[in-house]
Amino acid sequence: PAPGWFIDADVVVVGSGVAGLTTALRCSAEGLRTVVVTKALLDDGSTRWAQGGIAAALGEGDTPEQHLEDTLVAGAGLCDEKAVRALVTEGPDAVRRLIATGARFDTDGAGGIALTREGGHHRRRIAHAGGDATGAEISRALAAAIREGAVRVIEHALVLDLLTDAEGRTAGITLHVMGEGQHDGVGAVHAPAVVLATGGMGQVFSATTNPPVSTGDGVALALRAGAEVSDLEFVQFHPTVLWLGPDSEGQQPLVSEAVRGEGAHLVDAAGTRFMVGQHELAELAPRDIVAKGIMRRMREQGADHMFLDARHFGAGMWENRFPTILAACRAHGIDPVTGPVPVAPAAHYASGGVRTDLRGRTTVPGLYACGEVACTGVHGANRLASNSLLEGLVFAERIAGTIAEAHPAGAARPLPAGGPGGGLPPAAGEGSAHAAGAPVEGGSRGGMPLLAPEARREIQRIMTNGAGVLRSAASLEQAADALEALRLSALHEAGDTDAVAKAAEPGVESWEATNLLLVARVLVAAARERTETRGCHWREDHPGRDDAGWRRHIVVRLTPDRR
Ligand code: SIN
Repeated sequence: PAPGWFIDADVVVVGSGVAGLTTALRCSAEGLRTVVVTKALLDDGSTRWAQGGIAAALGEGDTPEQHLEDTLVAGAGLCDEKAVRALVTEGPDAVRRLIATGARFDTDGAGGIALTREGGHHRRRIAHAGGDATGAEISRALAAAIREGAVRVIEHALVLDLLTDAEGRTAGITLHVMGEGQHDGVGAVHAPAVVLATGGMGQVFSATTNPPVSTGDGVALALRAGAEVSDLEFVQFHPTVLWLGPDSEGQQPLVSEAVRGEGAHLVDAAGTRFMVGQHELAELAPRDIVAKGIMRRMREQGADHMFLDARHFGAGMWENRFPTILAACRAHGIDPVTGPVPVAPAAHYASGGVRTDLRGRTTVPGLYACGEVACTGVHGANRLASNSLLEGLVFAERIAGTIAEAHPAGAARPLPAGGPGGGLPPAAGEGSAHAAGAPVEGGSRGGMPLLAPEARREIQRIMTNGAGVLRSAASLEQAADALEALRLSALHEAGDTDAVAKAAEPGVESWEATNLLLVARVLVAAARERTETRGCHWREDHPGRDDAGWRRHIVVRLTPDRR
């Protein structure tokens, strides 16, 4: 459908996690007219689910250099050292500014910030809030600051596509809004700067720690807009997700690495600590190594889960330090105080995403990406635990500074008037905007028709079977074929006039399913191409790391016919 209304802004931020809200606050502080659009409610993204915390060299004796070292080791040879240096050196002040914005972190006996450990960190370096509810506190503080300030928020707004001007520069976005009064239906925000902060794509798999809204919308938009996307094969599987049975699907409860950081043991059904001897850090090895250790043990023993044993914490420590996890376990009839907790790896974090430079600029002028949706180079082949909230903070500030410089307040290029408060969008031509590469037409996105919402589960099943934690040429080929069959069947249905009538109505669930299919196809193609095992990309048929052939990134830019 054609946009029925539009509003003007200096910058539009898509997404409302730590990356999006920090960018919006900093842009607004620069005097930019800032609009945040978010698919559900302000606090529905991944940030509020973050448990362990935020990593920064804040502790006595710790230094950004040591944080850099741990990040590079976890990233398995593919981090961009300059990006990591920016992250770790600017990180401590970014956390202090977050505290100044209102976030309350747990303190130690001396009134300093309490710090814990997580996998891959050689030091206590993780600041946390509410014990294990760090993301919820950050979300609360940022949302409160946004509500008090001048940022305009549109909730229930799913971004569709990028608008560009005749020179290919960003001119805004189209979006589908539901239940927002005058902004109901498909509309547009015109702005010369667009920041994607849409989070991850965990919903591409059947079991994930990500909330239902994490459907790769930003990466899909960027691909359709012709932006470069990198490292999509590096999907991080969190080692310890509460195992709720073989058929449990959708968002699964996380059992934070911080539980291991405080001394919990990973054991098999016989109570044997199988990570000891596999890595000098045992249970606190980088995440990919622990996930692989668990998977190997599960395969050896024909088990579908392992256990995390922290009975020795006692009730007091569980209640004070890990209240969220304790409640989640007990809600499922598991008591970590008296028994071990069943755990298995599940999809957790996209280490890759929309490729940016150190100022968050993508390869499309005026389009920026921040947080999980971005690939800034800080994570390489495997993100170090608790670096993600930090990345959102640090790069949000860099992006806000860059936008203020490149697109100062009021610099929006005039678009032909559609009428105040929103008429139809301008026709193509000088100074006008059009959907980049993929016009939004009735029931279709460019060459790809909208998928029915039910396709989501099919995509998840295909991806979990073929492109999950352990991959091979055969499993990936099967996944690629099944995804292509899904795409062709949607195309076939769209060609059939009767089917079109039944075909997916434009709506959030059908846009999401369509986005999931696009990111799944690109992810599988990258995973097929990378014939080695590195970081969180684990190929059964290529078990070794191949530095001679593969110490490089897979960068994808779709040609118009493939979008
Ligand atoms: C956790 O608490 O284990 C998650 C930390 C992260 O994903 O960085």
